[in-house]
Amino acid sequence: MKNVFITGGSGFIGSHCAISLFKNGFTPIILDNFSNSRQSEIKKLEKITKKKITFYKVDIRNKKKLRLIFKKHSCYAVIHCAGFKAVGESIEKPISYFNNNIVSTMSLIECMQENKVFKLIFSSSATVYDDTQPLPFTETSKIGNTKNPYGTTKYIIEKILMDLAKCDSRWSLRIARYFNPISNHSSGIIKENIKNIPNNLIPNIVKVAQKKLKILKVFGGNYKTKDGTCIRDYIHVMDLAEGHVAMLKNNRLKKGLKIYNFGTGIGLSVLEVIKTFEKQTGISIPFIITKKREGDSAVSFCNPKKAFKELNWKAKNDLDHAMMDIKKII
Ligand code: WQD
Repeated sequence: MKNVFITGGSGFIGSHCAISLFKNGFTPIILDNFSNSRQSEIKKLEKITKKKITFYKVDIRNKKKLRLIFKKHSCYAVIHCAGFKAVGESIEKPISYFNNNIVSTMSLIECMQENKVFKLIFSSSATVYDDTQPLPFTETSKIGNTKNPYGTTKYIIEKILMDLAKCDSRWSLRIARYFNPISNHSSGIIKENIKNIPNNLIPNIVKVAQKKLKILKVFGGNYKTKDGTCIRDYIHVMDLAEGHVAMLKNNRLKKGLKIYNFGTGIGLSVLEVIKTFEKQTGISIPFIITKKREGDSAVSFCNPKKAFKELNWKAKNDLDHAMMDIKKII
């Protein structure tokens, strides 16, 4: 079985990727410093997969420690999910974001090169797209003009990888641009379990449903959209995990750099998300329309056809299904 290292493997995306990897005959090895996830997630993963999981508590900026892990295990490829990811926090602590996200990536690719591991999948984000571009975003839409340090770190890392591919033909590099990952594995055993305060839509809806929050603030009601609220492309996290496997499988990690959008291709408004949640869970979500959140784009959704054409991947779960799974964690 091929070992696949997952940096940030105890986090939201990484942990769901670990499930899909096992299911598809790969062995995930988790590297995480647990700065924004919990070690208890590993036990939960073991419960779901019924497998013992090899994991290391390591900050991948610590090259000494990282080297030891590369020496200990053979590695077919690395899925690099580790990174800070809160937009608002990145505006408050830009240097910490640059250091944590960019320096860690440098440390990782240096270590990979030393150990002759040249296959890397990078967790990027729809935030790299310049939102003045026409919609839906395709992989060739212009990127840059980022709105916050978080987006800038993703953009800079993409640029580094693009140059790396041009300069060194040994590398197989894949940039996975996630749209809005939501929901959880159908077991309901794992979920997004971050230590920092979340400010994303679904975690906030869940908090209102659990009565931990009185009311949901809908950021902005007069955007030029069908109902005045922002439009996003919400993708079930298990579909996203399968997307990573699709990049790894069938020898698809050929040399060179490729970029893929991972989304459904369908744009849904905040109000539609609330309505679907209410329909699927039977829990009503009181909300109020407040002022716009700084840095939000009105509309973001992708054209995911490239991933279908080249990887035979497409999102299988719609928003209803995503909400049915979310119901299991409430
Ligand atoms: C979705 C919509 C809000 C909270 C960010 C990152 C992206 C990815 C996912 C990954 C927006 C509205 C939200 C609330 C609301 N990051 N909203 N009330 O900003 O599209 O994307 O998270 O790790 O890279 O940029 O996601 O879930 O925060 O917001 O009305 O309490 O919900 O304004 O329109 P976003 P989100």
